[in-house]
Amino acid sequence: MDEGWRTAPGHRLTPIALTNTIRAKRNGGRRLIMIDTEAAVTPAVIEAMARAPNARLREIMESFVRHLHAFARDVKLTEGEFEQGLDFLNRIGQATNDQHNEAVLFSDIVGFSTLVCLLNNGDAGATETAAALLGPFWLLDQPHTENGGSIVRSETPGPALFAKVHVVDSKGAPIAGVEVDVWHASPVGMYDIQDENQAPMNMRGKFTTDAEGTFWFRSVKPAGYPIPTHGPSGDLLRAQLRHALRPAHLHFLCYKEGYKTLISQVFVGDDPHLETDVVFGVTQPLIGNYVERNDPPPAPDVAIPWFSIDHRLVMEPGVASLPVPPVK
Ligand SMILES: [Fe+2]
Repeated sequence: MDEGWRTAPGHRLTPIALTNTIRAKRNGGRRLIMIDTEAAVTPAVIEAMARAPNARLREIMESFVRHLHAFARDVKLTEGEFEQGLDFLNRIGQATNDQHNEAVLFSDIVGFSTLVCLLNNGDAGATETAAALLGPFWLLDQPHTENGGSIVRSETPGPALFAKVHVVDSKGAPIAGVEVDVWHASPVGMYDIQDENQAPMNMRGKFTTDAEGTFWFRSVKPAGYPIPTHGPSGDLLRAQLRHALRPAHLHFLCYKEGYKTLISQVFVGDDPHLETDVVFGVTQPLIGNYVERNDPPPAPDVAIPWFSIDHRLVMEPGVASLPVPPVK
């Protein structure tokens, strides 16, 4: 039995583990612990990481290594494929800058962002939730806008949209004083930061709910759009014969002390890509009741038809915290 290879305080490799995985060998007078089979690698790595004082780091990294190694065994990863994977990871970093976040895109297109969202909201998927993935386009300092104001900040052709949103708690009681960021793509399917024809902060605003928990604003009806495909995520989509489209939606981020920050999206219900969203972001509670209107519009410069939406967002009690902005 090994006599000296201690890992975490009070923890030792068992004789069985040594027999089956890591064998002690003689090298002259010295006793060495050697990895001599592929099966020995995983426990060796886990043992090496076992002294990390941060218990959560230990838990996450042990599980990560177990699953990563199991993945390589499962697909019998070749050396060429391994190199291709490393190159893919490097390209994710190289494609990322202040205006573009390829890591978020990759996480989105493999469903990981939505998985993490649903694991952490709505009682781990057991109950309905208004939560959705953040996506790569939220900005930290969106302009404060009065209720009823417009977030159209440069000429943006398209049907007018008048939105009214009620923020309530899980019992349906209105929540006043919630700061709500709104952002969405233009009717040509681009965000301001992607489109030099839009003024900065076009289709972006920050509202505060009134005493009835309500905020309201004017914009134009969003369109669906392709996610950026110039990076490795685009290469992957093409290799998988997948389209890059998202169904049309508004984004919301609701923030108030005492409540879990709610990140949501509200989709246009007749969008043809509702069931094939490239980032798997659509759930039933996120489909909004956008209504095409032919009655007299609420402002004289609005053409018919115009659109309205009346929507409810439910916040859960919890800790208010802002996500790391994916772009600047
Ligand atoms: Fe979006």
